[in-house]
Amino acid sequence: VSPSDHRALYDTIGTRYAQARVPDPRIEAQLHAALGDASSVLNVGAGAGSYEPRDRVVVALEPSEVMVRQRPDGSAPCVRGVAGALPYPDGAFDAAMASLSLHHWPDWRAGVDEMGRVASRVVIFTFEPQMTDALWLVRDYLPEMDQHDAFRFPPPEEIVARFSGGHVETVPVPWDCTDGFTGAYWRRPEAYLDPRVQGGTSAIAVMDPDLVAARLAQLRADLESGAWDERHGALRDLEELDLGYRLVVCDR
Ligand SMILES: C[S@@+](CC[C@H](N)C(=O)[O-])C[C@H]1O[C@@H](n2cnc3c(N)ncnc32)[C@H](O)[C@@H]1O
Repeated sequence: VSPSDHRALYDTIGTRYAQARVPDPRIEAQLHAALGDASSVLNVGAGAGSYEPRDRVVVALEPSEVMVRQRPDGSAPCVRGVAGALPYPDGAFDAAMASLSLHHWPDWRAGVDEMGRVASRVVIFTFEPQMTDALWLVRDYLPEMDQHDAFRFPPPEEIVARFSGGHVETVPVPWDCTDGFTGAYWRRPEAYLDPRVQGGTSAIAVMDPDLVAARLAQLRADLESGAWDERHGALRDLEELDLGYRLVVCDR
């Protein structure tokens, strides 16, 4: 799958997204705090609407029809479009946000610059690419995952460098995270055996299904034999973990 095909990717894998990806309230609170007092917000790569504020004026922008159709009744109006060409004049919004989307854009710099053009505050929920190994699932079972472009995120500091100011915040993943992104089940290893969980994250959904099945059969065997708990059992005592998820908060 080439970056330019990522809209088509979501038309294929996005069919059950809304069920697998319920926004997590703790991550939502952190993201909304980063939006500050912005009263108008553009949500780029909005998908089914996760993390969209409900107490502000929001416009969503999303290229995939399948994702748009999963937006709940009453959610913000949604425009079909791509990050690299936002159909709005300079400064049209107080803030622009993007949640786990820019790794799908063919040119992330163009998209980030567009967000800074249409809004004075830019908030991006993203991933630190040097942390792909932090998740045991990638390290021990699916190391091929970090070679796929669906998992290729730019370093957060490179995003900040495109703005006059900004900072990067760690977004710890709670042990019971409700948003089924790749790292969400770090303390619930059995969940990765569920095809609905596998299908809810693009990083797994784009991999060779036979390879995924073989590696997850190994995970099942390790859970049954106790080998997983021997290696990673200490995780079962933790409440949250830094797996590399980051919030980039910038001002134009
Ligand atoms: C992992 S989903 C995230 C959806 C939502 N923001 C969330 O947090 O649940 C990635 C989204 O980015 C969208 N996308 C793909 N290419 C894009 C592009 N060039 N510009 C904007 N969005 C894009 C996909 O269609 C998909 O809805």
